Amino acid sequence: MSNRDHLIVGLDIGTTKICAVAAEPDSGDPLNIVGFGTATSEGIRKGVVVNIEKTVRSIQKAVRECELMSGSPIKSVLAGIAGHHIMGRNSHGMVTVHNNRTVTDDDVRRVIEAAQAVNIPSDREVLHILPQDFIVDDQDGVQNPLGMSGIRLEVNVHIVTCSATSAHNIVKCCNLANLDVTDIVLEPMASSQAVLSQDERELGVVLVDIGGGTTDMAIFSGGSIVHTSVLAVGGNHLTNDIAIGLSTPLAEAERLKHEHGVAMSKLVESEETIQVPSVGGRKSRTMDKLRLISDVIEPRFREIFEMVSREIDKSNFRHVIASGVVITGGSSLMPGADELAADILQFPVRVGFPENITGLNELIYTPMHATGVGLLRYGLTNGSSRYSPLFLGEHTIFNRISRKMRELVQDIF
Ligand SMILES: Nc1ncnc2c1ncn2[C@@H]1O[C@H](COP(=O)(O)OP(=O)(O)OP(=O)(O)O)[C@@H](O)[C@H]1O
Ligand SMILES: [Mg+2]
Repeated sequence: MSNRDHLIVGLDIGTTKICAVAAEPDSGDPLNIVGFGTATSEGIRKGVVVNIEKTVRSIQKAVRECELMSGSPIKSVLAGIAGHHIMGRNSHGMVTVHNNRTVTDDDVRRVIEAAQAVNIPSDREVLHILPQDFIVDDQDGVQNPLGMSGIRLEVNVHIVTCSATSAHNIVKCCNLANLDVTDIVLEPMASSQAVLSQDERELGVVLVDIGGGTTDMAIFSGGSIVHTSVLAVGGNHLTNDIAIGLSTPLAEAERLKHEHGVAMSKLVESEETIQVPSVGGRKSRTMDKLRLISDVIEPRFREIFEMVSREIDKSNFRHVIASGVVITGGSSLMPGADELAADILQFPVRVGFPENITGLNELIYTPMHATGVGLLRYGLTNGSSRYSPLFLGEHTIFNRISRKMRELVQDIF
């Protein structure tokens, strides 16, 4: 059997586009992308499935394209999840080491379970339990405690939870498109795997993925995630503002944004003018480009970065961010977005592209595909990690939901 018969596939279910990205499972560094398919996303609002039928259709189109390009059937995917319902919190677990005072797999499993024993409402599911560091007796900062001697094992973890319904709907849409879901992955965590360097994660960095419907954040320190959140604003709000502010159809607003959009008015030559089509077949108008930027785009972009700044303050991790901020996602392509972000956040800012990939570079090498590529990286590294959902067995969302949804879909047909 060739590697092409069992590709690993990331399915980014975004607000504006759904895309499938495929790589060979033994693809190392650089990651060899062998398939890609994309479809306009119509059943998603602010990162959440609101129309099953339309979402299934978009998934089918993206996956079919990806199959054609890679020349191999796709049976399972790693699916991304985002939306304002995502919540992250830090927790702590402690257990007594069982056998011979030597830490075993079983002790690690038990301590992670103990850290998970926090009050989680019944309408929420645990998406990820991300160990930050272990403490063996009084020795803290331990990354891998296996085989160490000790009596007491503790762990600090970051727990990400999501709305059970939203996660169920993602699995349901994939199953209805004849796909198994091998894992559900928090989108900013996926994006971070594609665009951040290990040094940045160690030194402390904020990843900000500004998509169409949401702005996803993940803060890293000491190599681990310490804070996650999803803000319900994104590039679509900019497009809406332009449509309303300039009385122009949405499609024209999107075009104006792409052709003339700049995040800061100080970057615009003052005498430039643009043609603005009117709604209802009325005559188009000529207006100053500066007005589009200073009255509409810059205030909304400022608002997004001010929300990011408040979220950094709320996390209490501002002091750990030594390597600054990386912005990614489609809206990070707006010229001047990095400069405006640096101005407001008071950190050095760079735009993150999915680095270290070969194959289909011209299609994939854009911040818009940070999540798709990141899902592959997550699947390739975490599939074999001790703390992957596979290791944590029955306690994971994808095991519980996948089983339940498969039964449900079998019942429907
Ligand atoms: N060159 C550009 N300048 C400004 N905005 C851009 C540019 N290219 C794409 N965008 C915007 O990026 C957004 C889409 O980004 P992306 O593909 O990352 O979102 P998504 O993953 O579909 O949505 P989300 O992650 O919010 O669910 C759209 O709002 C689009 O207008
Ligand atoms: Mg996205």
